[in-house]
Amino acid sequence: MNGDSIRVKVFRFDPSRDREPYYSDYSVPFEKGMSAMDALDYIYQNLDGGIAYYDHAGCSLGICARCTGRVNGKPGLICQTAVEGDIVLEPVNKDKVIKDLVTRRGG
Ligand code: FES
Repeated sequence: MNGDSIRVKVFRFDPSRDREPYYSDYSVPFEKGMSAMDALDYIYQNLDGGIAYYDHAGCSLGICARCTGRVNGKPGLICQTAVEGDIVLEPVNKDKVIKDLVTRRGG
């Protein structure tokens, strides 16, 4: 699948500004072995610097769990989830969104 692009759909919501959540769609070059975090990094660096997610402030090693989210509806660590095709990225708990994929911790 090298040379191809995948479609990445990202949950967006800024409670201080948006009335409702929405999704943004991006076309991202597919690289064999890429993670969902790699796709977010590409979007942030090349397409939309306004998306909020736990970048490499997290560990990117599957240890800190700061990047927990849903990939195609399944909860998991975004930095450890391999991408094999189009993906939808969402926070695990949409009621605790600070912005986009960044959520409040605990209660
Ligand atoms: S960034 Fe630490 S587990 Fe993903």
